[in-house]
Amino acid sequence: MNRITHNIANSLHDFLIQTNPDKIFLLCDAETRIFCLPQLSDIQFHHIIEVPSGESAKTLHVCDEIWKDLAEHGATRNSMLICLGGGSITDLGGFIAATYQRGIAVCYLPTTLLCMVDAGIGGKNAINLGSLKNYIGTFRLPSAIFIHPAFLSTLPETEWINGKAEIIIPSSSKGSILGIPLPMHLNIYIQKMKIFWPMEGPWLQA
Ligand SMILES: NC(=O)c1ccc[n+]([C@@H]2O[C@H](COP(=O)([O-])OP(=O)(O)OC[C@H]3O[C@@H](n4cnc5c(N)ncnc54)[C@H](O)[C@@H]3O)[C@@H](O)[C@H]2O)c1
Repeated sequence: MNRITHNIANSLHDFLIQTNPDKIFLLCDAETRIFCLPQLSDIQFHHIIEVPSGESAKTLHVCDEIWKDLAEHGATRNSMLICLGGGSITDLGGFIAATYQRGIAVCYLPTTLLCMVDAGIGGKNAINLGSLKNYIGTFRLPSAIFIHPAFLSTLPETEWINGKAEIIIPSSSKGSILGIPLPMHLNIYIQKMKIFWPMEGPWLQA
């Protein structure tokens, strides 16, 4: 189930009623805990796991701590992991969910533009192996992705730039890719975004 929503608490609540996990765990970082978690105040989480922000969370050491935390708090194969964050959190949480007890359900709530348009939607997850980026991971789609554009209201400018860059990344400096002019690529991307976010907003402006 993939959905754009203006009421994240209701959407998540309905999804959890339908899927009926025995325990609901939340994975977040310090920023998403402060800025985004308050919008989920109606949801009863069995346990909240906070990890370091950004790339530093995507390590085996952090995974080890999360796996143990889940076990200590009684996570079973019927539990659900909710990932509230950017690509670092969905990459890490997706990997944790794919591996804990051979796989538990996971739901993504992307909070960065990059995660909404790329990291959170492709079914890839990964952690780093030392300096080797995204070396350990799996391909596994989450049970649900809920995109709540209002999460972006607190996003720092640099993260907006990262997200926008990801949207136009196929654009080459030569002005064309595979012989297709850059404006056509941009047009294709904007059309994709309109399908994905069928609403008006600053993200649809050039
Ligand atoms: N799996 C994939 O297909 C895929 C694709 C692209 C990138 N990635 C991965 O995504 C990661 C980068 O993700 P990212 O760019 O989303 O950044 P991020 O998850 O590292 O977050 C960047 C910063 O923004 C903060 N933040 C997140 N949401 C916020 C909000 N709503 N308000 C205020 N602060 C907020 C975070 O706490 C963090 O400090 C990289 O590890 C990259 O490898 C994965």
